[in-house]
Amino acid sequence: MATCNQRDPLEAREALDNLEFVSSIDVARFKEVLGHFVTGVAVVTAATPEEPVGFTCQTFGALSLEPSLISFSAVSASHSWPRAREVGVVGVNILSSEQEAIARVFGKPGSAKFAGIGWSPGPGGAPLIDGALAHLEGRIEFVTTQGDHDIVVVAAEYVVSHLGAPLVFYRGGFSGLV
Ligand SMILES: Cc1cc2nc3c(=O)[nH]c(=O)nc-3n(C[C@H](O)[C@H](O)[C@H](O)COP(=O)(O)O)c2cc1C
Repeated sequence: MATCNQRDPLEAREALDNLEFVSSIDVARFKEVLGHFVTGVAVVTAATPEEPVGFTCQTFGALSLEPSLISFSAVSASHSWPRAREVGVVGVNILSSEQEAIARVFGKPGSAKFAGIGWSPGPGGAPLIDGALAHLEGRIEFVTTQGDHDIVVVAAEYVVSHLGAPLVFYRGGFSGLV
């Protein structure tokens, strides 16, 4: 069986920070191919002093069980993510099959996305959207910028789930599980 060499974590970090890579792949083609990977759909939220913010996110994933870590990638130069980063506590709302409209609202740039959407604050204050299939809330532990995205690691401090079916995203379209 092949084994993986253990690297000095500092060395590995430096290698990531110094990553310089020029891609020859066409962006639209890259996006189209990546779209073949089926995912659920989440909305990442935070409560800024001015207003609640949030964005639709399919890069959410489990990272570590002990400790309880999750991760997601966020466009570094977006509207909502830099604001959420400043707050330091984020909510992750895993959407149900009935929440496609919410995925579309939060998938558009800008603010004031919460108008007409039911939500309540989690224990740490992050907006938890009514009707979501599951909610997580946690503290941002680590962020590294790679390309045009930030990779974000969050320590989960509150988790809750409900019965229902997930919203699914595949090749640029929404569906439920068949
Ligand atoms: C299904 C779906 C999945 C998405 N996944 C991500 C993601 O993982 N990370 C990200 O930064 N943007 C993702 N987006 C795009 C953002 O939601 C979009 O850029 C949004 O405008 C960001 O909100 P903001 O302008 O308020 O920051 C996704 C959009 C959709 C519709």
